[in-house]
Amino acid sequence: MTNGKLGKPPDESYRIRTSGDIEVSTYLEIAKEIAGEQPVAAGEVVSKLKREVIVVIDFGSQYSLLIARRIRELQVYCELVAHDTPWEKIASLNPKGFILSGGPASVYEPEVPLVPAYVYESHLPVLGICYGMQALTKQLGGRVEQGKKYEYGHAVLHLSRPDSPLFIDIPASSPVWMSHGDMIEEMPPGFSALAYTENSPVAVMGSDKKIFGLQFHPEVAHTPHGKTILKNFIYQVCGCRGDWTISNFTSGSLRSIKKQVGSGKVICALSGGVDSSVVATLIHQAIGDQLTCIFVNNGLLRREEADRTLKVFQQNLGMNIIYVDASDRFLSRLKGMTDPETKRKAIGGEFIKIFEEEAKKMGKVDFLAQGTLYPDVIESTSSVSTASAKIKTHHNVGGLPTTMTFSLLEPLRYLFKDEVRQVGLGLGLPEEMVWRQPFPGPGLAIRIIGEVSEEKLDLLRAADWIFMNEIKKAKLYRQLWQSFAILTDVKSVGVMGDYRTYGYLIAIRAVTSNDAMTADWARLPYDLLAHVSNRIVNEVPGVNRVVYDITSKPPSTIEWE
Ligand code: XMP
Repeated sequence: MTNGKLGKPPDESYRIRTSGDIEVSTYLEIAKEIAGEQPVAAGEVVSKLKREVIVVIDFGSQYSLLIARRIRELQVYCELVAHDTPWEKIASLNPKGFILSGGPASVYEPEVPLVPAYVYESHLPVLGICYGMQALTKQLGGRVEQGKKYEYGHAVLHLSRPDSPLFIDIPASSPVWMSHGDMIEEMPPGFSALAYTENSPVAVMGSDKKIFGLQFHPEVAHTPHGKTILKNFIYQVCGCRGDWTISNFTSGSLRSIKKQVGSGKVICALSGGVDSSVVATLIHQAIGDQLTCIFVNNGLLRREEADRTLKVFQQNLGMNIIYVDASDRFLSRLKGMTDPETKRKAIGGEFIKIFEEEAKKMGKVDFLAQGTLYPDVIESTSSVSTASAKIKTHHNVGGLPTTMTFSLLEPLRYLFKDEVRQVGLGLGLPEEMVWRQPFPGPGLAIRIIGEVSEEKLDLLRAADWIFMNEIKKAKLYRQLWQSFAILTDVKSVGVMGDYRTYGYLIAIRAVTSNDAMTADWARLPYDLLAHVSNRIVNEVPGVNRVVYDITSKPPSTIEWE
């Protein structure tokens, strides 16, 4: 993606990052910084075990992470690094090739991020996408100009050199997704045009030095053959064989956790969510009883949740679990509180206090295990996350005070969510746990509008239970990012039998999403909605009205508070 001079592209989620914003030395370095001197990072395990790595150099496109996902889906390990990452870091990954992402800048503007010299000096294959293509064009002696019009959306790609290795299994003409204002006016010496679209005479270019450029975005779903082009690049051009598999990751990770922890003690906050469940199981398989999990029941969980979590981890998997039923503590702390952020802070603060108390009782603890994932690592380095964090502060164990001196153990920090699920399944976790929808740390407290009470919690649990079971029965659970009930602070008049009622209003919400950054309300079947509504008003005393939330994010958020 490039901005050009033609104004902002018509995409709401467009990430504006200037070269100045990307001052972080490298994501890897930050990962290590966070993890202390001796991080147990899957990436390190991988780079030692596996020599097949593709490095994606990030110029700030909203799709950069998607490129990395696509490469991993093609079974080649891939890391996304900032464009100013020093060569030593890259060298330790021993890459087989580079992909240059798109980005919001225009190459002819001053002080824009450029491709590091080592990319060319390494003589490794390079694939520049959109801005990445324009940057390499400029640096290698070609010319990039502002296009006559911003090209955004579908275009048809026509191959002029179908014999190019990039085009194996690609039809002569196929749809591609464009998002650029600048164009290649003159290719650098040694390059030739391999394909064109109506508005881009050089939609794909290549040189016999294995350097390629694509004007469109192969990583997005709107380019149906894009993944094949990426596959051709990594397999045909870079010579990868595809050794990134989850079972390789798991076995490497088990070995490395064992080595890193030695005879040390590890604690882990278990919530029952996918990430903490997988991280705990992985570490438990590596070091057994050296791991202790702390499971705090804050009284804000859904029906049966605490029991089920305990059953899986304590009874079935035989883990050391310290179970703390702190429901009363949380409830009394929340008394009188109505503001969402105040509630969040109170819950986060109380959780940390309890966690610390329990950890202290254990004596010396060497490691704290966390279910940090790759998108979290990357997001924590971007300016976007700072802005969005102000919308709602999400509590997790990351907020532990610095007085606690553990090293962090984050074996999932180089994995995407779908990869984490596969690790979980491979470790034998039940499907129900691995496919669980996300549930916020502050739990039902942010789904009860206003003050939280025992009575309201019971009521919400009952309504939520009905909705969740009906969603599961309709086999929609996995298709939805989240589906849940909210207890509003509205009471309305109703009539039941011969009586007038004055009862609570329950809202139900179901959304589809890929990453929770944006979400669409789910078009649930009317009959299902009718059945859920009917059951809730009949089975949950005190509720006489049910509404379905038909707002997307933005402008709403997924949660109501
Ligand atoms: P929003 O409501 O901001 O939610 O659209 C986006 C995603 O984050 C979850 N969420 C939270 N998770 N602590 C959490 O651990 C929180 O305070 C919190 N608030 C929202 C929400 O469930 C959705 O998946």
